[in-house]
Amino acid sequence: MPADTIRTLLANAERLLAVPGEAIACPPALAGHSVALLFFEPSTRTRCSFELAAKRLGAVTVNFHAAAASIAKGESLADTLYTLEAMGVDLFVVRHRDSGVCAELARLAAPHVAVVNAGEGRRDHPTQGLLDTLTILRHKPDLERVRVAIVGDIVHSRVAYSAVTALTALGVTDIRLVGPAEWLPRDEPFARASRHTALKDGLAGADVIMALRIQKERMAAAEEPDSDRYFARYGLTEDKLAGAAPGAVVMHPGPMNRGVEIAAEVADGPRSVIREQVTNGVAVRMAVMQRLLNKPTDTEALLV
Ligand code: NCD
Repeated sequence: MPADTIRTLLANAERLLAVPGEAIACPPALAGHSVALLFFEPSTRTRCSFELAAKRLGAVTVNFHAAAASIAKGESLADTLYTLEAMGVDLFVVRHRDSGVCAELARLAAPHVAVVNAGEGRRDHPTQGLLDTLTILRHKPDLERVRVAIVGDIVHSRVAYSAVTALTALGVTDIRLVGPAEWLPRDEPFARASRHTALKDGLAGADVIMALRIQKERMAAAEEPDSDRYFARYGLTEDKLAGAAPGAVVMHPGPMNRGVEIAAEVADGPRSVIREQVTNGVAVRMAVMQRLLNKPTDTEALLV
């Protein structure tokens, strides 16, 4: 996605951000539209925020639970798409364990229908990348100077891939990958990031620290680290954050495993912006769906 598209989406999202405690007044930009949420992997934040985002903009939503649907009776994903399309669904929000599913559905869908990637394989989670970028921008607006440390299972994390793609497009250059060496990828978009197996080195002077869940579902049992040893080495605690920049913020895409990648004192502490990420996620998804349904044939913006 071009940097200008990212900037426009984030500016629109910022306008749609809820003010805590105030009723949300949104333009019903999606009135008359129908959104289907097709989730083939577990999700709390992403699915609920897409649903709330669609409803706040006036769309109706239908939830599809893979285990309880006709897919379990052998129906193909394409037939599921055509079936829901025949009911008038014009936007599909899709999460799937395999890469390429969203692009394939977008290719099969009618021209007026849009497909949004809500996390696919281990490489793509574009709306998460956008909400993480918005969260960083709101705390550290000078992106060219910001130092971002990403800690943990980066190689299996579509969150890290999408966040670094968006941040790099907006000019972030100081990105540190921190964790066991086998979890620190070298391919794009990480080619210019620095790598640190010692947490202390990676966190030195960092303005933003993003902890990641260990993606056990994407690794063999033998690769899974012992949780206590991992926490001792890479788990974020107040003590270990002492070398970060003053005013550093701590992020986590969720779901969190407290006591593994992050201590409760940090997750709930003054540096944590984890719940802001969740709030920003609804606004980002509103901005994305609004853009897609206004420009459904704009493949660049399909976010697949
Ligand atoms: C992430 C995902 O599904 O990729 N969660 C999310 O969308 N907030 C990260 C994870 O599962 O660890």
